[in-house]
Amino acid sequence: MKKAAIIILILGIGIQFIPVPKNQTEKVSEADFLQTMEATIPIQNMIKASCYDCHSNNTNYPWYGRVRPFAWLLQQHIDEGKDELNFSTFQEYSGRMQREKIRSMISQISDGEMPLKEYLWMHPEAEMTKEEKEQLIEYLEKLNPQ
Ligand code: HEC
Repeated sequence: MKKAAIIILILGIGIQFIPVPKNQTEKVSEADFLQTMEATIPIQNMIKASCYDCHSNNTNYPWYGRVRPFAWLLQQHIDEGKDELNFSTFQEYSGRMQREKIRSMISQISDGEMPLKEYLWMHPEAEMTKEEKEQLIEYLEKLNPQ
């Protein structure tokens, strides 16, 4: 029993030295969604708090966010999330693609698929009330990038 505990402890410390890339950039991109789309401060805050950690080039890491194995899980969400949608480079999508992404955001939010549930357990501040979701959806529905 004691030996097992020691081995687990050593492994637990050892994995902290395996590098994990950090999803952060110094400058906010000119193609950033919130920089280029007009939105009220509450709407901006909602998108930032609920979506940007996984769908932008700037993750606001929680204290455990650099601790392995949580860091790997988060990194996986970031990689997969950015593959689907990256708010930091939104203006680099074609108009058609932007409209498609916005439609997809609306359905993800209204179906309660996004933000991911595992994320909400650790980030209660990213949870949106029913009214907030409605406001966000109403905002997104009005956007019509050309
Ligand atoms: C914890 C990380 C995380 C957060 C926070 C998050 N997402 Fe995602 N998102 C993902 C991942 C991972 C995928 C790809 C896999 C999937 O669809 O489940 C994804 C996929 C998507 C897609 C593409 C879905 C499709 O199949 O068309 C959209 C749109 C999306 N997210 C919008 C949002 C919006 C809007 C928010 C904020 C309200 C948000 N996400 C918050 C991780 C996240």
